[in-house]
Amino acid sequence: MKLGFIGGGYVGLVSAAGYASLGHNCQVIDIDKKKVDAINNAVAPIYEEGLDELLKKITVSKHLVASTNYSDLANCELIFICVGTPSGKDGSINLSYIKSCAEQLGKMIKLQDNFPIIAVKSTVVPKTTQSVVLPLLENHSGKKAGVDFGIAMVPEFLKEGSALSDFNSPDRIVIGVNDKKSSDALKKLHSHFKCEILEVPLATAELIKYASNSFLATKISFINQIANLCDVLGLDVDDVAKGMGLDSRIGKQFLKAGPGFGGSCFPKDVKALMHFSSQNGIAPTILESVMGVNYLQPQRMLKLALEATGGGPANLIGKTVSVLGLAFKPDTDDCRESPAIPLVEELLKMNCKIQAYDPKGIDNFKKLFPNLQYAKDMESALAKSHACFIVTDWKEFKKPISYYESKMAFPLIIDSRRILDAKTKAKAIYRAIGKGGTS
Ligand code: UGA
Repeated sequence: MKLGFIGGGYVGLVSAAGYASLGHNCQVIDIDKKKVDAINNAVAPIYEEGLDELLKKITVSKHLVASTNYSDLANCELIFICVGTPSGKDGSINLSYIKSCAEQLGKMIKLQDNFPIIAVKSTVVPKTTQSVVLPLLENHSGKKAGVDFGIAMVPEFLKEGSALSDFNSPDRIVIGVNDKKSSDALKKLHSHFKCEILEVPLATAELIKYASNSFLATKISFINQIANLCDVLGLDVDDVAKGMGLDSRIGKQFLKAGPGFGGSCFPKDVKALMHFSSQNGIAPTILESVMGVNYLQPQRMLKLALEATGGGPANLIGKTVSVLGLAFKPDTDDCRESPAIPLVEELLKMNCKIQAYDPKGIDNFKKLFPNLQYAKDMESALAKSHACFIVTDWKEFKKPISYYESKMAFPLIIDSRRILDAKTKAKAIYRAIGKGGTS
């Protein structure tokens, strides 16, 4: 099939690359010429495992081509809208990219006679596809949805860091549709995936995406609160999570306690669902608590450090401190809403000299904090420091504690993800979120 993707960001590019790898002809449209050139030169503008290699194959075979020109979408059977929906100050989503995209697509559809199907993949609140996108398409094309073109909502469930493998083995495909032609085309496109294909109304597809992300975020805040209790009780949260997860009704995943969830999706989507619920007269009390716990959770790292050094800030003020992990999770360079951000802000208030390191995220973190000292590797980040905060669970940070001890001036280690083995320490003061009694 000839497929179009508007937006060469995370969702658009990974999806286009995934479908291209299955033999479809994919046209990516982006307003950013630099990004378009990079994609055509097989250089992924984001770090994602396996994406550069895949881009090399599919750009050479011309299964994936990028451009800035909407007219290149002519004759696409299906066009996915994959532009961003950033958060406004009140938590609502900003639809300006979606609207401008729908206008341009409307003008393009005007010139088409092949029943193109427009599928929204961007995360949008319920009824956006029906009440915002569809009228714009109709007004700018002079054509009728369901008669001259199709409309659909196909939410995306890819995770950063494992997006290509998620693409190839989805848990489910959700297809929101209004008309049979769009339903048939989307089912055909996804027919070789082994998972269930769930066909629902447009607004249900939109809500499934928000409810899924918000539920996962709820699991994380829940286990983080249990972890904080474990700290006080001297218990290990991983034992508790294991015992809970063995219950198939609860499930093992997303019960890993840490410094709080980040990234471009969970915080934004939970806030958007809260705002949308309130607007519809449903108080989002659970989600308010989820965000409340998440707001405070990065502070746990500092609290553990201060408690370990006598309670007050005195022992950290002005000290050299290593921050390991700047990306919001491993295997990505994405630092948006990373728990490292509030931690660094607090450390700067204490005049700490920060030595920051991340295997992939330094360039993005520099945009937020240009003046930190960025280390070239983990060893230099640890050199002569008085405290080390492990914020992201990159594999390379998982070393014996004796390694940390040998590099640091004073080995106070705060392991927010519990990746180190306390048994390997000699003199370190080791504290981990949710692992009370580790000193
Ligand atoms: C999330 C969803 O998992 C995807 O299904 C969805 O498609 C995507 O948002 C999106 O809406 O586009 P992502 O933001 O890439 O994916 O990251 P996750 O792997 O879900 O992790 C989110 C945050 O939760 C990270 O900060 C991670 O460290 C944290 N987390 C995750 C925990 O603290 N504990 C866990 O057990 C799991």
